[in-house]
Amino acid sequence: MNKDITILAIESSCDDTSVAVLRDKTVLSNVIASQKMHEEYGGVVPELASRAHMQNIVPVVHTALKRANVSLNELSAIAYTRGPGLLGSLLVGTSFAKSLAISLDIPLIDVNHLQGHVMATFLTENTPKFPFLCLLVSGGNSQIVKVTDYNCYEILGQTIDDAAGEAFDKCAKMMQLPYPGGAVIDKLAQQGDPHRFTFAKPHLAGYDYSFSGLKTSFLYFLRDNLKVNPNFIEENKVDLCASLQTTIIDILMAKLLKAATDFHIHEIAIGGGVSANSQLRQTMLQYGEKYHWNVHIPPFEYTTDNAAMIAISAYYKYLNRDFSSIDLPPFAKMTGEA
Ligand code: KG4
Repeated sequence: MNKDITILAIESSCDDTSVAVLRDKTVLSNVIASQKMHEEYGGVVPELASRAHMQNIVPVVHTALKRANVSLNELSAIAYTRGPGLLGSLLVGTSFAKSLAISLDIPLIDVNHLQGHVMATFLTENTPKFPFLCLLVSGGNSQIVKVTDYNCYEILGQTIDDAAGEAFDKCAKMMQLPYPGGAVIDKLAQQGDPHRFTFAKPHLAGYDYSFSGLKTSFLYFLRDNLKVNPNFIEENKVDLCASLQTTIIDILMAKLLKAATDFHIHEIAIGGGVSANSQLRQTMLQYGEKYHWNVHIPPFEYTTDNAAMIAISAYYKYLNRDFSSIDLPPFAKMTGEA
């Protein structure tokens, strides 16, 4: 008789302490303790983030087990985010996961954070067929990933400078909007004219992205207009947000369309924090209709950092008996390695 696979997964790569319990492919709980104190600094402060993870990890693990109605002795494996991410933050989740796996004498599974974002789409009923492309867009990454199997990835293109989420956040900061700015811009853009202003788009060959030129173009545009009208941002905020958001989405979609066409792939997914963006989600569906794509969009709660995406990635690694050794160090760099 096949025994259920029950995995407890820990995600602590940045400023969210998240723990999920997964039984086979069903999420029994997915608890996220978000750190609000970074808002006042306009970005994540690594030292504060790791200290908060240390405070949060025990209560979040307890809550996740309680909500799932699962006890420690029912667990089949412990999964954790190995990287990429902030080293101090990763160390908290990594050390906790290793200690728990040793004390329970069960396998340990390390998961690449970016693989987690790609795999979030497997938390839905309508899962993609292989091969599929995933537009992975978060605060630290913008990539087009070709996925040929659960644990088999190829990065076709990625940003050569800023990530899409960073472009949202930094342009939001220029408009004195709160951090993180992506969701704020998304909301304001809904009332604005997306074609009122135009901003620079990069002309890169291949599938790589660049957002630093757009950021500079937006900065100079604001600076020049503020010289003439000090209330320029206030008076045009919704149109600025809508035009900026449309430019970012145009840049993202152009490369995704090129990759889908060149590789003849019609199964297309998105993942990462920016995939929460309402216009991007809508645009994906429109492209799906126009280009006959099967579009896979993760549920909203699995777009930003969460442990359920780590748990589902670990589930497929568990099936392959792909366990990690206790002395595996966390990634020190922001690599795209899966
Ligand atoms: O995936 P994530 O939670 O963290 C990383 O792994 O980076 O992504 C965070 C990013 C931030 O840049 C945030 O502004 C962006 O996702 N984001 C959004 C939206 N919600 C979150 N960007 C655009 N529209 C949104 N609705």
